[in-house]
Amino acid sequence: MKKIFETLNQNQTEKLGEALGKLLKAGDFLALAGDLGAGKTAFTRGIARGLGIHEDITSPTFTIINQYEAPVPLAHMDAYRLKTPEELENAGFYDYMEDFVVVLEWADRVEELLPGDVLWIYFTVLDENRRTIEFQSQTSHYDNILQELNL
Ligand SMILES: Nc1ncnc2c1ncn2[C@@H]1O[C@H](COP(=O)(O)OP(=O)(O)OP(=O)(O)O)[C@@H](O)[C@H]1O
Ligand SMILES: [Mg+2]
Repeated sequence: MKKIFETLNQNQTEKLGEALGKLLKAGDFLALAGDLGAGKTAFTRGIARGLGIHEDITSPTFTIINQYEAPVPLAHMDAYRLKTPEELENAGFYDYMEDFVVVLEWADRVEELLPGDVLWIYFTVLDENRRTIEFQSQTSHYDNILQELNL
């Protein structure tokens, strides 16, 4: 199933992330891909809010994995600067699969590491403030989540 949203500012992207965050459970894996500066980190900030996390979300570009405690905790990852997928494995990639919601920016760079069942989210810059955010699910689990997702 496919679902496409267009957002007109950062706040709308965060709101969409927040709406999705409210629908997620431990073990869910979100694979984010798309243009530089398109809003992947902003969207993840919204997800964190939806999970009930009040901490400030910062980009994991340099830290590779940031984790945030909550009833359903969040692991926020970024593959942008990796030279090899093994760097992500060594940072503890597989330790988060069961108990966390995992959000991975630049997931297309480490596709060989991803679990079979992920929700793909593609970000595109249309112009300075407009973005498209396209969700693609291949399983009934993520289809159900997408059916409930509305801005
Ligand atoms: N509709 C929009 N949605 C999200 N961000 C927007 C939007 N319009 C403008 N922006 C701006 O675009 C930037 C998005 O930055 P963000 O760090 O979230 O992108 P990113 O996809 O994580 O980038 P990177 O590829 O470097 O990780 C911010 O400066 C934000 O203010
Ligand atoms: Mg980012």
